[in-house]
Amino acid sequence: MSAVSLRNVFKSYDSTLVIHGVNLEIHDGEFIVFVGPSGCGKSTLMRMVAGLEDITAGEILIDGQVVNDLPPRDRDIAMVFQDYALYPNKTVFENMAFGLRLRKTPESEIRASVQAAAATLQIEHLFDRLPKALSGGQRQRVAMGRAIVRQPKVFLFDEPLSNLDALLRNQVRAEIKKLHHRLKGTTIYVTHDQVEAMTLADRIVVLRAGVIVQVGTPDEIYHQPRHRFVAGFTGSPPMNFVDASVVSDNGQVMLNLVSDHRLPLPETLSRAVEERVGDEVEFGIRPENLHLANSEPPADWPKLSLKVELIEPMGAENLVHFALCKNSLVGRFGNHVRPAPGTLIDVVLDPTKMHLFDKQSGETLNRF
Ligand SMILES: Nc1ncnc2c1ncn2[C@@H]1O[C@H](COP(=O)(O)OP(=O)(O)O)[C@@H](O)[C@H]1O
Ligand SMILES: [Mg+2]
Repeated sequence: MSAVSLRNVFKSYDSTLVIHGVNLEIHDGEFIVFVGPSGCGKSTLMRMVAGLEDITAGEILIDGQVVNDLPPRDRDIAMVFQDYALYPNKTVFENMAFGLRLRKTPESEIRASVQAAAATLQIEHLFDRLPKALSGGQRQRVAMGRAIVRQPKVFLFDEPLSNLDALLRNQVRAEIKKLHHRLKGTTIYVTHDQVEAMTLADRIVVLRAGVIVQVGTPDEIYHQPRHRFVAGFTGSPPMNFVDASVVSDNGQVMLNLVSDHRLPLPETLSRAVEERVGDEVEFGIRPENLHLANSEPPADWPKLSLKVELIEPMGAENLVHFALCKNSLVGRFGNHVRPAPGTLIDVVLDPTKMHLFDKQSGETLNRF
């Protein structure tokens, strides 16, 4: 039995459809991340699970029970929002205890639960403070503590790290992951940040304009993107795309890039597109799959002579931008690689990491 099921869920505001028939089975104990650009419907979907928004059509089940008509308080869920929504006039302890008090939990039990949650989050020393006397990171922990003490069936997080500065965000992100390993509660986590999605999720749900584009483990999403949109949303920098066409060269299927470079295709990919000679496609390759021709890549990897446009030193590595007609390519190299802008260098591509996408639909042409 799934902890949460979404079955053909639609949502419209007035006449505008914002969720277009979502189907998803979330397993017990799973950490699921909804990721996608702003406005794609992540919060709406989560708020429907919480019961804060009506469902226009379809069914939502929690623990096998249809909850469409169940008010939020009866759904046994706990939410952590971006703005934390702490009660300003209650102390940290009382903020954390509030949900249990509403349920008329005995005082001794409340103390024990709040103590245990606070110990996990290392906020016991803050019990007597009011929210206004806390830092952003501390408030965030109190909001999480309040969710944990309730021991809900499902945790819902909506961009809980967006108000933290970059360093703290990385710390709290790691803490959320450790916490999940310990508590193993079913979790739905919403973010527009692909790094949060990659680092936290058991499975990622990529959304675009109210439609699920792909559901998969972080590895599947990163290495086997089903759609150009997924490939272009993940990785930092994301996958490179180059306009290309499929051509036949003496009976061999090849790729002709916009720059008129010709690339041989690995066998699986060439078989996948042999019926598409003459078609426009998009060629995709991630920055880390470009290598210098004078390093140790196998001699038969396809080679391109590329003009260096710009170097971005990142400390541990350098990002080298290459111009390719109206497209560009970014390569991720060691920090010793510093070619001068304007020079030509030979780059080889890992043929096992090449992607092709249909120009019109954006669907992958790879057969994973
Ligand atoms: N209460 C509302 N009334 C009308 N439109 C809304 C309402 N809430 C959200 N929307 C619209 O629904 C779409 C999805 O919004 P939302 O779920 O908040 O996106 P996300 O969380 O992915 O940024 C957006 O186009 C947004 O403008
Ligand atoms: Mg949102």
